[in-house]
Amino acid sequence: MLDQITDVGRDLKRGGYSRHGYDKPELELRHWFVEQAVKRGLNVETDQNGNLWAWWGERGDDALVTGSHLDSVPGGGAFDGPLGVTSALEAVDLLQAKGFTPARPFAITVFAEEEGGRFGVACLGSRLLTGAISPEKALNLKDPDGVTLAEAMKAAGYDPGLVGRDERALKRIGQFVELHVEQGRGLTVPVGVASSILAHGRWRFTFSGEGNHAGATLIEDRRDPMLPASQLVLAARKAARGGGRATVGRLVPNPGGTNVIASTVDVWLDARDSDDARTRAMVAEISEAAERAAEEEGCALRITEESYGDTVHFDAALRDDIASALGGVPALPTGAGHDAGILAEHVPTAMLFVRNPTGVSHAPEEFAEQADVDEGVKALAATIEHLGS
Ligand code: GLV
Ligand code: MN
Ligand code: MN
Ligand code: MN
Repeated sequence: MLDQITDVGRDLKRGGYSRHGYDKPELELRHWFVEQAVKRGLNVETDQNGNLWAWWGERGDDALVTGSHLDSVPGGGAFDGPLGVTSALEAVDLLQAKGFTPARPFAITVFAEEEGGRFGVACLGSRLLTGAISPEKALNLKDPDGVTLAEAMKAAGYDPGLVGRDERALKRIGQFVELHVEQGRGLTVPVGVASSILAHGRWRFTFSGEGNHAGATLIEDRRDPMLPASQLVLAARKAARGGGRATVGRLVPNPGGTNVIASTVDVWLDARDSDDARTRAMVAEISEAAERAAEEEGCALRITEESYGDTVHFDAALRDDIASALGGVPALPTGAGHDAGILAEHVPTAMLFVRNPTGVSHAPEEFAEQADVDEGVKALAATIEHLGS
């Protein structure tokens, strides 16, 4: 079913897909999802935080909910996000074909801006719903063009005045199950379940120096913020030991000219490790190295924690119940973040993974074999049947 959306949001410059919260491709995908849900007789509503809900039968409390997201990272793959949504729709097809109807409320959700590819904070829709981010902070987040979340929501026809913790929506989720493409090489059979997610967060380092002329400024006269920014990248690699992961995937010099010494450089650090203490220690080590390097170059440094979440251990009873209902599929940890990780703090939550033979994700090469995708749909349908009977 993913083939229905292959033309939406293709990124001809970077390769892969760029679909970000409330931009044109993401809105087009939302529209497509609504059409698909209505075609299956589901009742669609948007919650106050811009997340979509497609109810099979009556909306109600303690529902079984499945779904994922339709946005991508910049230049991302076809599977991360959309696979969980198309699999949910296809699972409903399988169940409707065999005459099954859920004995409890059931919905498919699409969460808004899961990757944070536009506004910087991942899982924005689920964070707002659960109160993990304040409405003030969220609404003032800016995209690279300076457009705030509030402005983007308004432009898309949503009321930003309504965002914030949504008690009613939370009460409706009895159990949440997200199907997702696996993002490493951890799964060697078609389908597995998730055990845990690494503690992870994002930090922004802003180095300020003196913008100047690349030819006329003597080396000894420079205060070049690119120097400490580069040392931060090296420090991140050095600090990521024993399973820790530290990444600089985005570094933006301002103004960004070949013959211009930058006046400021923004560096975004993504850091993950098995627990809170290890993650915090890794970030502290990188921050100290960045501070020393900034001082040596006569630059100022401001560090901002953009988002953070501790290790997620998925509900063991639900995980084991699903794994055994699927005939004993393996459980595996993941280093990737998910809306399921945000919801897991509030409701019993599980994830199904579909094998990714490339071990590549957040890149155009991300892949799953069609046979494995089909197994994923069957596993999700069996899970809905098991939990929803
Ligand atoms: C989301 O996919 C993340 O792990 O960053
Ligand atoms: Mn992702
Ligand atoms: Mn995802
Ligand atoms: Mn059971």
